Amino acid sequence: MSKTGSITVTIEGSNSSTTLPLLGGTLGPQVADIRKLYSSLGIFTYDPGYGETASCESKITYIDGDAGVLMYRGYPIEQLAEKSDFIEVCYLLMNGDLPNKAELEKFRKDVTYHTMVHEQIRRFFDGFRRDAHPMAIMCGVVGALAAFYHDNLDINDPRQREVAAFRLIAKVPTIAAMAYKYALGQPFVYPQNKLSYAANFLYMLNTVPAEPYEVSPVLERAMDRILVLHADHEQNASTSTVRLAGSTGANPFACIAAGIAALWGPAHGGANEAVLKMLAEIGTPDKIPAFIEKVKDKNSDVKLMGFGHRVYKNFDPRAKIMKETCHEVLAELGIKDEPLLDMAMEMERIALTDDYFISRKLYPNVDFYSGIILKAMGIPTSMFTVIFAVARTVGWVSQWKEMIEDPSQRIGRPRQIYTGAGARDYKPMAERG
Ligand code: SDX
Repeated sequence: MSKTGSITVTIEGSNSSTTLPLLGGTLGPQVADIRKLYSSLGIFTYDPGYGETASCESKITYIDGDAGVLMYRGYPIEQLAEKSDFIEVCYLLMNGDLPNKAELEKFRKDVTYHTMVHEQIRRFFDGFRRDAHPMAIMCGVVGALAAFYHDNLDINDPRQREVAAFRLIAKVPTIAAMAYKYALGQPFVYPQNKLSYAANFLYMLNTVPAEPYEVSPVLERAMDRILVLHADHEQNASTSTVRLAGSTGANPFACIAAGIAALWGPAHGGANEAVLKMLAEIGTPDKIPAFIEKVKDKNSDVKLMGFGHRVYKNFDPRAKIMKETCHEVLAELGIKDEPLLDMAMEMERIALTDDYFISRKLYPNVDFYSGIILKAMGIPTSMFTVIFAVARTVGWVSQWKEMIEDPSQRIGRPRQIYTGAGARDYKPMAERG
């Protein structure tokens, strides 16, 4: 990041003025460095939802929302989805470049040998109802990992940060599969070190003691692709939550649990589950126009789930890849006609010709098609956001590491504009209305 110029801020009607540095990065908009604004002019900036605010400097992921560009460490998502795999993408996000053969094998081993969880973790599940939402279980059990590692974890030691990252990337899928098995009333399945990351996850989700389970290469490739597409996404709500929690020096397991909690919301990672519910509620394609009219009616508060994005004002590149993958997976699974896919494609066609969506630059996002693939893979809707959390854990830990290692980072503490009551004296009960 380097100084590329300056901007002058003047308060009209007064002679208060200050000059602030403009800073430029490798790609994307420059930023106005406002760290001296309050001390110079006694004012804050106001940006609810931080839509126009750079909270940090990062080298991990770049998004151009207008062009529909997404890159992990400079590599376009389209190329990574086609040519790489999830464990290699994990290395890339954490270390900054693609590994050589030896580096990849060592990284794969480092992650693989942390996939098991402490046997006592199993006992946390007994407190949950069998019909508990698996994201509630994920928040609780991933946060509980802190209880196993808090005492011997010095986050200022790079090696210990790396081991915490390995543990999280490795154990989150194991816990996710345990949450699924618990809901089914089936026994937990131990990880298999000989399997790939995606295959091992599918193995733990689907194996039962009564018969052997062979992971289908089609499902393994589809799951791996879904994990790659969801791995990181710049400073989204859940990543910003992880960074904010991490800025206090909190245990990384607690920080990732905070990220899981934020991801759960239907406006964020919960959207994939909401898309399937929306399509099921609409029922048949002939009812789509009426639903679209409801979405356009501001009083209905109905959103077209899986559409729109805070940053993408063009197609979410992940949605395009997900749509292609959808067709591939359904074809390879021999599913000739999937009514939900027909519904989704008709919904996309109608929405993209309607001025309400065109004028607001609302396009399908990553969540619009992902649920249809997961459903075709036999995964229940309640597990969709859990799978998003499994994938995003590497993005969260990479961003958490980067934040800890950034010398300019300090505890996150936004300010506000206060519009509440002015100073007033306490009123005894007898004097109140
Ligand atoms: C993810 O940030 C990330 O990177 C997140 C994510 C990641 O990988 O981490 O990409 C993952 O969260 C994807 C988004 C999943 N969420 C959904 O699909 C839920 C449906 N989408 C909306 O809730 C909404 O689009 C948001 C929350 C995603 C974005 O909200 P914004 O930034 O407030 O939307 P906007 O400013 O672009 O809205 C502009 C207008 C508004 O209407 P007007 O006030 O101009 O009349 O478009 C409307 C919005 O009400 N609008 C929608 C809509 N999304 C926005 N109207 C109907 N349906 C929608 N989906």
